[in-house]
Amino acid sequence: MTFVIADPCIDVNDKSCMEECPVDCIYEGDRKLYINPDECIDCGACEPVCPVQAITADRRTPPERRPHIADNRRFFTEPLPGRAEPLGTPGGASEAGPTGVDTQLVTDWPHTDVTPA
Ligand code: F3S
Ligand code: F3S
Repeated sequence: MTFVIADPCIDVNDKSCMEECPVDCIYEGDRKLYINPDECIDCGACEPVCPVQAITADRRTPPERRPHIADNRRFFTEPLPGRAEPLGTPGGASEAGPTGVDTQLVTDWPHTDVTPA
């Protein structure tokens, strides 16, 4: 099992989850954050602190969010835009730092119009 960050995180990037994670396995993209499924120890500390309820255990991820299960993994296993090598399992998001890029799924995700009426 692992925990998964899904689309409600996109363009919110609250980062409270990063502060809670005891193994520093939540990595920064550009519009969203991603949990490294090979580093997550399933403690669940991140889930309740997200203000937009973007985080769930993979088994409890609702059907419409399930593409993000593979997408969180893809962030680490496939080369990100502009990089020759996949991120892999760096062993800590603080050291890896913000990547500034996202998976294709998230890059293509529609922007929410937040312009006041
Ligand atoms: Fe995103 Fe929620 Fe973390 S908005 S950055 S998953 S606290
Ligand atoms: Fe960290 Fe959340 Fe996993 S706090 S260890 S990413 S369940």
